[in-house]
Amino acid sequence: MTEATLFFREFTRTRRATGAVAPSSPRLARALTRYVIPSPGTARAVLEVGPGTGAVTRHVMESLGPMDTLDLVEANPRFAALLAQTYAGDRRVRVLTGLVQDADLGSYDTIVCGLPFANFDAATVGDILGRLVGALRPGGTMSYFAYAGMPPLRRALATGRARARVLALQSVIGRVLARHRFRTETVLGNLPPARVHHLAPAVPAAEALALGACASPPGGGETAAREGAGL
Ligand SMILES: C[S@@+](CC[C@H](N)C(=O)[O-])C[C@H]1O[C@@H](n2cnc3c(N)ncnc32)[C@H](O)[C@@H]1O
Repeated sequence: MTEATLFFREFTRTRRATGAVAPSSPRLARALTRYVIPSPGTARAVLEVGPGTGAVTRHVMESLGPMDTLDLVEANPRFAALLAQTYAGDRRVRVLTGLVQDADLGSYDTIVCGLPFANFDAATVGDILGRLVGALRPGGTMSYFAYAGMPPLRRALATGRARARVLALQSVIGRVLARHRFRTETVLGNLPPARVHHLAPAVPAAEALALGACASPPGGGETAAREGAGL
């Protein structure tokens, strides 16, 4: 069975959790892994959440040095089995099968997240984002994506309880972005196009003052304001 067929089959079985009909495009994968930066001579810890069939994982692996480690946390046992088979024998890679909410996470230099947050409730997303940002080492980054244009569309179309859920969810995500986002980029080369958000742990005000600057993680401080403050 091809990767695309497996992915689509799992989408039909677990639509909400899988969250997409096809794996991410190479362009989206490149944007998501922009901050998985090789660092020869040091051991870097990378976490990928929701790797699916491994479309983004392949790009992480291209930047993974011999001393680095990669934890893959995947809820779908069929995807997890495929990943375990693909990376069997590579001692840098550990596949954790289950929900990221239940995973025994370490601390990481880079986190890449492919979870379909738009399908989850606000409390779950708040919990997951809190855990992931909390698992970042100082100077670390976390990248995740959402489909471009979907948040305003969902706000406009949802009614009643569904609208309440959408508003609560977007409010949680908006708070996290306001506190932690240092860059957002739009990837047109994906179906549908996507927005990739890059986050970093908040620098305490006193520390930022001592540094004499606003927090400016890797990438040179392309601010959310310049690139659009939308979700
Ligand atoms: C949109 S797919 C992304 C797959 C892959 N990263 C890509 O870009 O092609 C979301 C993935 O997250 C997994 N997933 C959903 N909820 C999860 C959770 N709570 N913990 C871990 N993985 C989860 C799904 O099984 C699925 O593989």
